[in-house]
Amino acid sequence: MKKPKITVVGAGNVGGTTAQRLAEKDAYEVVLVDIVEGIPQGKALDISQAGPVCGYSTRVVGTNGYDETAGSSVAVITSGIPRKPGMSRDELLSTNAKIVKSVVSELVARSPEIILILVTNPLDAMVHVARRVSGLPKTKVIGMAGVLDSARMRTFIAAELGVPGHEVQAMVLGGHGDTMVPLPRYTTVRGKPVSDLMTKDRLNAIVKRTRDGGAEIVGLLKTGSAFYAPSASAVDMVEAIHKDEKRVMPCAVLCEGEYGLKDVVVGVPVKIGRGGAEEIVEYELTQEERAALNSSAGAVRELCAAVDRLMG
Ligand code: LAC
Repeated sequence: MKKPKITVVGAGNVGGTTAQRLAEKDAYEVVLVDIVEGIPQGKALDISQAGPVCGYSTRVVGTNGYDETAGSSVAVITSGIPRKPGMSRDELLSTNAKIVKSVVSELVARSPEIILILVTNPLDAMVHVARRVSGLPKTKVIGMAGVLDSARMRTFIAAELGVPGHEVQAMVLGGHGDTMVPLPRYTTVRGKPVSDLMTKDRLNAIVKRTRDGGAEIVGLLKTGSAFYAPSASAVDMVEAIHKDEKRVMPCAVLCEGEYGLKDVVVGVPVKIGRGGAEEIVEYELTQEERAALNSSAGAVRELCAAVDRLMG
């Protein structure tokens, strides 16, 4: 049986690691695209050559063009410039909007049925750009942020309580930035509410560290941003789509009335399956949580208005 084709755009750290993780699943064909000559080809070859050792036979193609992407079921878009220490994700807006615009038109021209998973920052605004440019339905343009932010929160809680990370469930909504909305009320450890297991102060410190999770890594790496957890999170979304899991994952999608939010892309719980972002799931939120989500959506809205002005 022919394996589904997944395109990864951008062969930097996030893209390269995404391609590697996808290849290791042995369930896809992978196309790695980048404008820099030699890099996608070299990384594709290197990933292929790990196959006999790791036990996969995934076909991995590296290219500087888009023709090889034709017929892709999903594309993970990672291209763009990353943050430098001290920069906010929002400062990447104009450069990355141009890159995402051109990447999306190239992809959609060759794969009209494609589902796009955006990773490029500022994330929510890039989902907005990709939607505008692609003309794809909102179910097919999805931003990866909440899975990563939740994974960070799960890791910090697991370390604090000395439990395995996969036994911690967390939900981080809102924009992928300083206004993100970690939801301790929907965070459980082996089924127990996290608030029963640690003090409010410790939990608040973890919420803050989660919010600053990307910047903490940028500050340490100095020459780039995180890539192991971002690529793992994007691949988890690809798997949920291909296995038609209908798993509820926090993702950045266009809200049209859900949570009282109109026409804004923001992180909300979404049922992910073969159709992409099949349904936004509405959780009960307290007034405070709703206000935090609203204000996060407000920040994203401003950024989207700025990008609309830039794009004309
Ligand atoms: C981060 C980048 C990928 O949060 O936004 O690390």
